Amino acid sequence: MHDNTRTNPTDRAVGAVIWDLDGVLVDSEPLLLEAERIAFAEHGVALTPEVKRPFVGLGGAEVLAAIAETFGLDVDLDVLAARKVSAYLELAPTLVGFEATTDLVRRLADAGVPMAVASGSSRAAIDAALLAVGLDKLIEVRVSVDEVAAGKPAPDVFLAAAARLGVDPHSCVVVEDAVPGLLAAKAAGMRCVAIPSVTDPLDDRFEQADLLVRAGMPAADTDELLAWILGRPTDAEIAERVDALLSDMTVAEKAGQLTQYFYFNLPPSADIEALLHTDFSQQPRMVEAALRAGRVGALLFVRDPAEANRLQRLAVEGNRHGIPALFGFDVIHGLRTVLPVPIALAATWDPETIAAGQAVAAREARAVGIHWTFAPMVDIARDPRWGRIVEGAGEDPYLGAAVAAAQVRGFQGGSIGTDDRIIAGPKHFAGYGAALGGRDYDEVNLSESELWNVYLPPFKAAVDAGAGNIMTAYMTLDGVPATGHRWLLAEVLRGTWGFDGFVVSDAQAVHNLRTHGFARDLTDAAARAVTAGVDLEMAITDPAYAHMPAAVQAGLVDEGVLDDSVRRVLAAKIRLGLFENPYVDEDRAREVLADPAHRAVARAAAQRAAVLLRNEGDLLPLTASGTIAVIGPLADSRRDTIGPWVFDYDSAETVTVLDGIRRRAATTVGYAPGVRPARRTFPSMFDMWGDNVADDPVDFDDAAEFDRAGALAGDADVAVVVLGEWQNMIGEAASRSSLELPGDQLALLQAVVATGTPTVLLVMNGRPLDLRWAAEHVPAILDIWYPGTQGGAAVADLLFGDVAPGGKLPFTWPRTVGQVPIVYSHTISHEPDKQGERYWDQASTPLFPFGHGLSYTRFDYTDLTVDRDRIQPGDSVVVSVTVTNSGARTGEEVAQLYIHQRYGTAARPVRELKGFQRLRLAAGESRAVHFTLGPDELSYWNAATKVWVLDDTTIDVFVGSDCTATLTAGFQVAT
Ligand code: NOJ
Repeated sequence: MHDNTRTNPTDRAVGAVIWDLDGVLVDSEPLLLEAERIAFAEHGVALTPEVKRPFVGLGGAEVLAAIAETFGLDVDLDVLAARKVSAYLELAPTLVGFEATTDLVRRLADAGVPMAVASGSSRAAIDAALLAVGLDKLIEVRVSVDEVAAGKPAPDVFLAAAARLGVDPHSCVVVEDAVPGLLAAKAAGMRCVAIPSVTDPLDDRFEQADLLVRAGMPAADTDELLAWILGRPTDAEIAERVDALLSDMTVAEKAGQLTQYFYFNLPPSADIEALLHTDFSQQPRMVEAALRAGRVGALLFVRDPAEANRLQRLAVEGNRHGIPALFGFDVIHGLRTVLPVPIALAATWDPETIAAGQAVAAREARAVGIHWTFAPMVDIARDPRWGRIVEGAGEDPYLGAAVAAAQVRGFQGGSIGTDDRIIAGPKHFAGYGAALGGRDYDEVNLSESELWNVYLPPFKAAVDAGAGNIMTAYMTLDGVPATGHRWLLAEVLRGTWGFDGFVVSDAQAVHNLRTHGFARDLTDAAARAVTAGVDLEMAITDPAYAHMPAAVQAGLVDEGVLDDSVRRVLAAKIRLGLFENPYVDEDRAREVLADPAHRAVARAAAQRAAVLLRNEGDLLPLTASGTIAVIGPLADSRRDTIGPWVFDYDSAETVTVLDGIRRRAATTVGYAPGVRPARRTFPSMFDMWGDNVADDPVDFDDAAEFDRAGALAGDADVAVVVLGEWQNMIGEAASRSSLELPGDQLALLQAVVATGTPTVLLVMNGRPLDLRWAAEHVPAILDIWYPGTQGGAAVADLLFGDVAPGGKLPFTWPRTVGQVPIVYSHTISHEPDKQGERYWDQASTPLFPFGHGLSYTRFDYTDLTVDRDRIQPGDSVVVSVTVTNSGARTGEEVAQLYIHQRYGTAARPVRELKGFQRLRLAAGESRAVHFTLGPDELSYWNAATKVWVLDDTTIDVFVGSDCTATLTAGFQVAT
């Protein structure tokens, strides 16, 4: 993608040299010495090999400090540290060593492998590596500079390190790139992993591979190393097993492996049958018969461990080869422990919180026998009428990509097959979120520029993060159904991006190729889907892939294509260890689901997700004294607190907002719903599950309840009003033509505010709602989203100031539905000064901008600098800013960096997010934050020339707390 940027020798040099200062400099590396000279020269440090040599073997930061001191030079150590990390990240495809090290270490940590990272590196180098991968749980042992200088690492260093950690040295894995260190550790009987040195690709004469072979250690890619450490089958072994199975399978058996069925264990009901257009009561029996006949390779919707075991047994015994079935499910934001909805997770702007949350979801799912989730949904959503905006990360490709990668990491852990983790299936590939009119499932009409620059980046990030699966989309793109879109699936996904997992259709989407008027019949549909690249068909009934034998016989499908699809599905089963362990332990499942640690993760995520939209006169936080009136039907609705797309929740343990306030406040708390739940005009297909439809309260006297709420508020010291959408009004098949508060909620809010009691509005939502009136008349507005199992507890923590809100909006909040779609990253056009007056009847500016979110304290941004005025295309700059908490209490802020390209070969958006960091700062504390802008951030897909370009241009940089940031600097990109 950015090939044009990878060959700049200066860039490679910068990356190499700074790392090398932390490691071992090999005398025969003139290239490195030259590289180092260039790097230092850029920082005004004249360095010759002679000058440097005395410092070789010491740590990087120490080296720099020593050099600076000895020669009286002014070296900005902070900038160098940041540049080092970013240089390596930018150069990762070239400098395999760094990538291999950090990736491997992270994946080992995710896999729970006890690790002693013994390193000759300095504290700063290790910190930099940790920072790069967000590794705070790494068990790290630093071999001191003195030890390294004295010619170690030696066995005793590793043994001492293990002793300090209190672990058996022989259970540790020594990760090391220095051959002497490896030999020493190996001699001590420790398990060693050799990582290729970063110097390797820079100098062919450095024959690392040869040395490693002599050391008797595997030196391969990260996956192979990981497999070796964890005792898992390598790619070659997997391929061998798969081929052995395939060689003995008939076409019908292969088609069976490529068929996934829903298994609905619900009581039959006429409504359900009408919704699904099928004789629903027969569906489970039909699936069981297909399992017994070896015609099923995967199931979905099974989430009871006993049932999973029973059905798995049918699968294993139902085919000649004992191949287990893959169980998938929509584990979207938790299973038993329900996390805040995905749009809320995105609002944390915190990849670690997101990964930790989805790791909990994965652990619970795996315990009950689910191997794979149909998540994350990484569709960009720019039209909030579209109900599925709640499942994604909002409007922005950069934030969307970061959130996508974090979720994949959380679900999968270090690699597929990691204990307690499941395969991630990013969806819906691709463009599904651009449904016209926000109408779910409808066609999209995307420009090539939008597709590449906006809609595809989160998918690319998810693939790069190692996602094992991708789900296709329902709609057509350029008139071609996404589920039969060869260009998308074969060329972009597998070809350009190198995706090597399996592709599943969305439910009935292969069937739908006929519905679309694309395929002639089901045989044609099967042929066109599999040849386009759909490996597995997800079906409710009557799968098209059952016609695969006919398609092969008619010459519509090459059996080799079919084999490749089966290979990918079987490989996933082997990687998951399903052949060895197809069943789950039901007792353990119960324990895992009850784990209190999971609830703590959900509570922290809900705290971090909330966005403080407005806080006039610092009404929040509340003091926990006096009387509080809690108003609104959503305030005490367990089902709505946890949001859509959950099926296995424990309603009894869900903490509503009312529960949370009552538990926390040492005060009198009264409650009145005020209005009855509002209803959808058309029912949802999800209505068939549990309590998805809010009960219409019996004997609810509308006028009396409305008045009672007003009176309660009038008598209280403060009113907390919880309003929003009922959870079945958002999600799949839950699009809306309006963004107004459903039902009589606005009138209720107005009545409460009219009492004169200070009022806090808590918004329970998954999309922006029309809050024009509230934004003018309600002093405090906190967006709590659908906050999950522990939602009420988290909300109370926020209301009473135990924690301060720090979430930020992942979308532009319009004033009214008439402005939709509206995004912050629009292009500049004629009369830009009138951007806010594009309608004569209503401001065309947002109600709240993208990235907006207040705190209980204040943050100031100062000292914005860019470390270079001018760079070559392909090079990078480090942008630094100081963020100060200038208020009186600890708080969290998300520092955001936006760019604007002034001119070039295409017109670029007025602003684009290109960096962010969530920070926690104590009162009065300042912190320098560094962002790197390099080729990945500065290049874009040019639809005219059909390539990724890096223009000669001027880039404006803006840093601050939302997309309207005014602190600005700039630099020039010029050849
Ligand atoms: C249809 C939805 O579009 C998809 O996101 C979901 O994963 C499947 N149904 C399975 O429930």
